[in-house]
Parts: sequence; structure tokens; C-alpha cells
Amino acid sequence: MGVRQARYPDLNGRVVVITGGSRGIGAETARAFARQGSAVAVLGRDEKALAEVAEELRADGARALGLVADCTDMAALASAVDRIERELGPVDVLAAFAGGDGYPVPTARETEEHWRAVLDGNLTATFLTVRAFLPGLLARRSGSIVTMASTAGRLPSGASAAYAAAKAGVLMLTRQLALEVAAEGVRVNAIAPGAVRTERTAAQMPPEAQAAVAAAHPLGRLGEPEDISAATLFLASDASSWITGQTLDVSGGRVIV
Ligand SMILES: NC(=O)c1ccc[n+]([C@@H]2O[C@H](COP(=O)([O-])OP(=O)(O)OC[C@H]3O[C@@H](n4cnc5c(N)ncnc54)[C@H](OP(=O)(O)O)[C@@H]3O)[C@@H](O)[C@H]2O)c1
Repeated sequence: MGVRQARYPDLNGRVVVITGGSRGIGAETARAFARQGSAVAVLGRDEKALAEVAEELRADGARALGLVADCTDMAALASAVDRIERELGPVDVLAAFAGGDGYPVPTARETEEHWRAVLDGNLTATFLTVRAFLPGLLARRSGSIVTMASTAGRLPSGASAAYAAAKAGVLMLTRQLALEVAAEGVRVNAIAPGAVRTERTAAQMPPEAQAAVAAAHPLGRLGEPEDISAATLFLASDASSWITGQTLDVSGGRVIV
């Protein structure tokens, strides 16, 4: 079943940054903002994939920029901020979506190195991304930040404890920050997706596994990247102007069972 994308006229002309925009949920979210008339910067580590997404957006008439920036590297993020502001203008919306590696690891066999990498790649990367873009949003006293959690950060699941802890950390970072900056006109909300079918997850899950995972979601299907982009547009737009510090579970009801 397709997802109907609403129109948000206020997003037309807004400058939107999407980390993790080179593929998967982030790339689809970039397309969704471009269709609203937003100018879009996609950040990630894969230069070729970023260039392809940016080219596709430009071919569809959007102002778009693909920038290599590892979100665990503050200096790389700082130069991305400079370049985006120079080429697209001041940032209005930040979708801090970079992250991943929720593969199951029994805690008894977890390594210190992998634990630190997962925390770094999800929680610290989200903090550094927010830290890099927040001063600009605060200076203009407006903006919306959307962070990326997961059902794994809401309830125990098959993911590694490191991923669960990192995504739960993203949720508390989101709520804490929302309270800090609310009076300064900046909103901060999180999306917590259930299992979403991206190129990566589709390649990793044989059809029987996909059916089993779909059945664990009360609405009986896997999520599509469009389910997440639809929620992101809403949280970015003025349609949600009285909503901050919230977690939007986009998970087919996964967290109610
Ligand atoms: N798919 C799901 O079922 C699901 C469910 C819940 C939550 N999520 C979360 O949603 C987000 C996107 O997931 P996805 O499934 O779309 O994943 P994906 O297809 O594997 O894409 C991950 C994206 O994050 C980027 N990224 C990862 N680490 C980065 C870093 N250190 N610096 C910059 N970019 C980085 C990747 O960029 P490069 O490839 O260019 O390096 C890529 O664009 C992740 O935070 C994930 O944890 C996904």
C-alpha cells in the first residue's frame, strides 16, 4: 500500500539538511523534501552515492547539494555547515538520520570496540550533528530538528544492546534538547521506526524472514521509506508547530504489543 504524501506549503524554499542522505530512509526523505520545493543538502560518507542523490534531486528541479561528512567527525560537520550556508542559505530543518548497525550481538559476546563504534555512530553522531547546526537555528530563533531513533530504543528486541542503548540515548537527547531550546523557537522531535524495507534490509532478509518481521508489526507489513519521510515532513513543517520533545513511533503499532 502506497503512502500518500501531504503538501506542506511552508516547506517550499526551506533549507533542509539530511544526514544519512546517501541511501535508504535518508535518500527517500531527501526526495520527499525536494518535492515540497525545499533546498536539500544530503550528507554521508559515500561520495558517489551522495552525488547521485543530489543529481537526481537537481534533475527534478530542486536546489541540492551532496556533501561528504562523517557524522562522528566534528570538523567535517563544521565544514559542511559552512558550505551549506554559503551555497543554499541558512538551515531551517535538520534531519539527523545517519546511523545504523543494529545487528544482533549477544551481550555476553559483545566487544568493547563494537560497543563504542555503535554508540559513536548513532548517539554521539547525533549529538555532534545537532551541535554543529544548532547555533545557526538558535541565532535565527526558528527551526525544526528531527532525530532518528528506532523501535529498538523503545523496547527490548532482537537488536544488539549497544544499538538499543544508543537509540534510547537519542530519544533522551531529543527530549532534553527540546526543553532547552523551546523558548528559543527551535523544536526537536524524534522518529522511532519499526523495521523499514530499504535496499540494505531487503538484501539482508530473505522473503520468509521479511514475512515474519512484518507479522510482528500489528499492521502486518514492513515499513517503507515513504512512511518515515511522511512523518519527517510533518515534524519539519509548521503543521506540527506546537509539538516538541516527542517520539513519533512509525512502526505499524510495533510498540503497542
Ligand atoms: N531500516 C530500518 O529498518 C530502520 C529502523 C529503525 C531505525 N533506522 C535508522 O534509520 C537510519 C537510516 O537507516 P537506513 O535503514 O536507511 O540505513 P542505510 O540504508 O544503511 O543508510 C544509512 C545511512 O546513514 C549514513 N551513515 C551511517 N553512518 C554515518 C556516519 N558516521 N557519517 C555519515 N553518514 C553515516 C550512511 O551513509 P554512507 O553509506 O554514505 O556512509 C547512509 O546514508 C539509521 O539511523 C537507522 O539506525 C532504520
